[in-house]
Formats: sequence, structure tokens, C-alpha cells
Amino acid sequence: MSSLKGLILAGGTGSRLRPITHTSAKQLVPIANRPILFYALDALVEAGVKDVGIIVGDTRAEVMAAIGDGSTFGLNVTYIPQEKPLGLAHCVKIARDFLGDDPFVMYLGDNLIKDGIVEFAESFRNRDQDTVAEILLARVADPHRFGVAVLDENGHVVNLVEKPKVPPSDLALVGVYFFDKTIHEAVDSIEPSARGELEITDAIAYLITHGKKVSSRETLGYWKDLGQPEALLEGNRLMLENIVTLVHGNIDAASIIEGRVVIEEGAIVVNSKLRGPLVVGGGAKIIDSYVGPFTAIGGNCSIISTEVSNSILLEGSLIEGIDRVEGSIVGKNAQLKRRQTLPKSTRVVVGDNSTVEIY
Ligand code: G1P
Repeated sequence: MSSLKGLILAGGTGSRLRPITHTSAKQLVPIANRPILFYALDALVEAGVKDVGIIVGDTRAEVMAAIGDGSTFGLNVTYIPQEKPLGLAHCVKIARDFLGDDPFVMYLGDNLIKDGIVEFAESFRNRDQDTVAEILLARVADPHRFGVAVLDENGHVVNLVEKPKVPPSDLALVGVYFFDKTIHEAVDSIEPSARGELEITDAIAYLITHGKKVSSRETLGYWKDLGQPEALLEGNRLMLENIVTLVHGNIDAASIIEGRVVIEEGAIVVNSKLRGPLVVGGGAKIIDSYVGPFTAIGGNCSIISTEVSNSILLEGSLIEGIDRVEGSIVGKNAQLKRRQTLPKSTRVVVGDNSTVEIY
């Protein structure tokens, strides 16, 4: 059997993660100090994929700089530019030359599947001859936000709808799909949806209405579409649970470290208490502060006279003199600090689409 290729979608605008995505691709926002996209690449490597096509949009330069030719992951990467975000099925269309007639796994670059996809890739590799696609499903409380599947008693998919107002089930389509070459006929046959996109959900529904067999597997482990700030913090908490203690950096005798903590080379910790799970990037400074748990401090951040927990600080950001920061995402080079001069007022230069909640 020909080998399974990978198709990762890393285009799109990331509108629900603004302002962070005004300056950065959503798939490169870090959780536990690693871009979301790196976890997708890891999952493909574990599943035995060697050749990966990555669909890139406006943020292509940044994505290409982060992944390069893929060799650091043990992958051969081909970049496929998409001029406009015209839908997931459009991505399959423009990847036609890369995919050839090979079976492939399509992986949405903003999805996080904690336990990876090894068992699903295995079941697709062992599919019976008339199965042309395998989709992953998860039970969710808010199915109207997703593609939704209806199954028959044998677990075969009989119907699929994209973001239905009245969901026919609570089974959401997870952003990982396995296809054989039959999908190409489907993506060439469907029309754009009401939101103007070629929906992969419609292409799979086309397979079903044309008598093809689409199997499904339910993921019972953790899955999240990291398109929104709360989900990002949740993904961060989850991936921090996997870290293994590794302490470099310079920690003074007055500081206390508890639990699992990664502190990278060049970080400085002075008179502070760190509580894991926590990662601290290289060159970060933590002074007279309490940091953690469930917090990711990016490289070259500064935390001074502050308490920070359950948060993500992107590279180069600073928090100083704030009593307690919780459940926050601070963008690259952003500064959050107590004002030392009168008047005692709040003074902000906040980017477009930012949220600031002051207690
Ligand atoms: C896309 C798919 C949807 C799927 C979801 C998973 O939605 O269209 O069927 O359930 O990904 O993350 P989007 O994130 O483009 O709104």
C-alpha cells in the first residue's frame, strides 16, 4: 500500500484569537512555550508520516521560518500557498499535485489532540477495501460550532452538516481526517457554502450520498480546537502536565522551586517562588515574584514584583508591580505595569481587539 502523506492546514486569519493573531499566525501561538503547530507535526511523525504538505496563507513567511524544510522533525515538508482562505476542501484541491493518488491524513493546524493519532492512522491503514475515508468524532456540549455527524447502528456515517443551527447529534468532527484518492472527485464536485467556502464536511457528505463508505472513530482523549483564548489556556494547562523537570538558568539561594518546572538556559530567578507545572523561556527574568502553576513564560520576558498563574506570556513581554495576574494571555513585547506617578489612573495603549479586565 502506498504510504500515508500528511496535509496540515496552517492558513486562515485567526480572527477569534485577535489581538495575538494580528502579528502572529494562530498556529504559531505557543502553548507550554511550543507553537501549537509543532504538536501537530509531532503527531504526524508518531503516526509514521514522512511527507507533509503545509497549506500556508498570509502568514506564510513566519510559518516557513518556524518549520523550515521539516528536517528537525524528521519530515519532508512541501509548502502549498493558498491565496485566500476559501475553505478546507479548497486546500485539498490546491494540494492535488503534492498528494498525487496517495492516501493522506489532513490535520487542521489549530487542533490539539493530546494522545496523538497513532491508533487512528493504524485503523485507516487497515481499512476494508471499500472504505474511502475515516473521520474522527468527539462528543461536545456545543455541536453548533462544528461539523456534526450522524451515524447508523454500525458506526458508519450517514449524514454530515457544517455548523447546524439545530444539531442532529452531539458528535463533532475533529479536525483530523483520513482520505484516499476518492476525495479529489468530491472536492471537485461541491459548491461553496453560505460562508463562501468549499467545506470539507460537504465533500465528505458527497462521498456518502454517492454510495461510498466513510468510517468514523470517536476520540475519547482530550481534543480541542484552539481557536479561542479560553481554549488556548486550557491547551496550555494540558500540555504543561506533560513536562519533565529540567532546570538551567541562574536561580539565587532565596528562590524556591516546587513541582515540575522547565527553566531554560539564560533565565534568571531572584527572590521568587516558582510552582510547577511551569515553563520559563531562555533569557527571562523573574524577580521578587510568585509564578505558577500552569504558566508558560516565553523567552526574554520579565516578571517583577508580581504574582502570575494560569497564564501564557509571549516572548519579550513584561509584567511589573501587579498584585495578581490570572488566566491571562500577554502578547509579544507587551507591557503590563503599575504606574509610579500620579494621577492614580489607568493608562493604556491597547491594540485592536484586545480585552483588558481591571479589578
Ligand atoms: C472546521 C470544520 C469543522 C470542524 C472544526 C474542527 O471548522 O469546518 O467541521 O468541526 O474545524 O476544529 P472551523 O474551525 O473552520 O470553523
